[in-house]
Amino acid sequence: MSTEAMNPESGNKRGVLITFEGIEGCGKTTQMTRLEALLTTKGLAALTTLEPGEGPIGRRIREDLLTHHPEPLDPLAELMLYLADRAQHVARILTPALRAGKIVLCDRYTDSTVAYQGYGRGIDLKKIQDLNAFVTRGLTPDITFLLDCPPEVGLKRIRGDLDRMESQDMAFHRRVRAGYLALAKKFPDRIVLCDATRPVENVFRKVTAALRDRGLLEGN
Ligand SMILES: Nc1ncnc2c1ncn2[C@@H]1O[C@H](COP(=O)(O)OP(=O)(O)OP(=O)(O)O)[C@@H](O)[C@H]1O
Ligand SMILES: [Mg+2]
Repeated sequence: MSTEAMNPESGNKRGVLITFEGIEGCGKTTQMTRLEALLTTKGLAALTTLEPGEGPIGRRIREDLLTHHPEPLDPLAELMLYLADRAQHVARILTPALRAGKIVLCDRYTDSTVAYQGYGRGIDLKKIQDLNAFVTRGLTPDITFLLDCPPEVGLKRIRGDLDRMESQDMAFHRRVRAGYLALAKKFPDRIVLCDATRPVENVFRKVTAALRDRGLLEGN
């Protein structure tokens, strides 16, 4: 593989990568939709995207990951499917969009793998960190919003049938949440911790204020 293909960061990244993280039902889609609308009214080029599941390959991987199967999905197989989706997503969608100068709003990214497969499943954290760096070719978010709430609150907000990850037991969801909070402590400059039990409008004010503070959003 060429150096360029292995390391898209070597081609100048001009856009901004904003990621949204948190447990099921915390409000990621809600906040991203609002932010995308605000950016659009300001005439800024935004792209909303998600993991897992963008593009034809990502959609197939998402199906494998989130539907219920007759046999359990091995935790390492699960990890590798998330990473395969990420490698494809970085190469085909995130890097081209960032090179084109877009503001990319990404629903879940590397922190999800640390929280779910690391803290949730108990897979070695250092290994996950190395694999994340490998498949992203070093592409890290400029800013991450962690929408934090107890699993009971998030799961209660979900309408309809629960998917394979949503139907994990409560102890799993609690470990995931604790993992996210540990990440927020470890990366205080990148991760903005938001209390997702607050009304949508309050959370959104925190999001826009953090973007303004960092010079990523101008005006009101
Ligand atoms: N701060 C909030 N307070 C109360 N309800 C909220 C809040 N944020 C979102 N909701 C509601 O909770 C539900 C789940 O929100 P949303 O789909 O944005 O969460 P999500 O994090 O994207 O979930 P998933 O992980 O399933 O994709 C929606 O019905 C949404 O309207
Ligand atoms: Mg969502």
